[in-house]
Amino acid sequence: MTTFWSWYVTILSLGTIFALTWLIFGTRKSQPNDEVTNETVGHSFDGIEEYDNPLPKWWFMLFVGTIIFALGYLVLYPGLGNWKGLLPGYDYLDNEAKTPFATNVDIANGKERNGGWTGVHEWEKEMAKADAKYGPIYAKYAAMPIVEVAKDEQALKMGGRLFASNCSVCHGSDAKGAYGFPNLTDNEWRWGGDPETEIKKTILAGREGAMPAHGPIIGEDGVKNVAAYVLTELAGRKLPEGTEADIAAGQKVFSTTCFACHGADGKGTHAMGAPNLTNPAAFIYGTSYAQLQQTIRYGRHGRMPAQEAFLGNDKVHLLAAYVYSLSHKTAE
Ligand code: HEC
Ligand code: HEC
Repeated sequence: MTTFWSWYVTILSLGTIFALTWLIFGTRKSQPNDEVTNETVGHSFDGIEEYDNPLPKWWFMLFVGTIIFALGYLVLYPGLGNWKGLLPGYDYLDNEAKTPFATNVDIANGKERNGGWTGVHEWEKEMAKADAKYGPIYAKYAAMPIVEVAKDEQALKMGGRLFASNCSVCHGSDAKGAYGFPNLTDNEWRWGGDPETEIKKTILAGREGAMPAHGPIIGEDGVKNVAAYVLTELAGRKLPEGTEADIAAGQKVFSTTCFACHGADGKGTHAMGAPNLTNPAAFIYGTSYAQLQQTIRYGRHGRMPAQEAFLGNDKVHLLAAYVYSLSHKTAE
């Protein structure tokens, strides 16, 4: 923190505390022995009057207590700008202006340090304990091929727990996906289902599916026609009654525009994450004629967030095995 902001924070914090101290003492009635009187403050609100009595003592002391606590805290712990507190363990704070919070890990030197109490430190200690306990187990599985890991009951249990806490928010606790999030149990892959080279890579590095907006390229008629072609000829479904669309013209649009990503047969390209349009059960943006037009007209942009920095290779290896197992129940 620069000196300016350090002083800014300090003056603002202490100023507020002193102002509140003045307020609580200044407004305290100096009646002898804080005696209760029958005097009123002298105004009436719809006939309701207010006694002019001091704050009850216990209440007053509670305020004084919070002020003393605040000052004590700010002396002992970092909180006032660059002041690092009298307690040991926080003296590294100003070297790490780049970290968003005080971490127990000395980032420049990659070492753990004996930092003072903060919520983050306690969390890090818990994580370090868990890593010491489970790290060797993760490492053991990470050295095995994913198809082998996917046959190991203990590994799948651990993978399932990792999935529940890191992936189920988007993919669902049963991994069957939701609108905008793919089903991971159906053995239909947007980015490919090879466990080592594709599934694991998807989880480690993340993926971004980019379906460009085609409204401006093929025009409104083009959108209607090609959506009708996808729905009937590729996905094998029916058009809503009374729809007027030229499916043959739609096919032409498909084979000149869409095939580049979705393939001439509409079965998709893993390298681009372009989905198989002949399997409507795996569509994530809906299968109605209106939803298809929406997708084609305005495009879609699904993002699978990268997990490598967050979970590390070994946990991702287990997760890849877990995901693989979901569509390979009787793994060879
Ligand atoms: C540049 C490559 C590219 C082109 C060209 C392209 N798409 Fe796509 N399309 C994708 C990708 C990638 C996705 C997946 C988007 C996502 O996951 O968010 C996608 C998704 C879709 C979906 C949604 C499937 C679902 O899961 O709900 C439909 C439908 C679709 N495309 C139809 C078409 C049609 C019709 C055309 C031609 C007019 C077309 N696409 C052209 C790459 C392309
Ligand atoms: C913030 C939401 C979100 C979270 C969290 C998330 N995912 Fe995803 N994931 C997605 C989206 C969206 C896609 C589809 C990307 C696209 O449009 O191609 C996806 C795609 C995938 C795919 C590729 C599916 C295919 O058909 O190729 C796999 C595998 C996957 N996720 C596994 C995981 C695992 C394992 C985790 C937990 C570590 C996880 N995801 C966490 C949103 C999420």
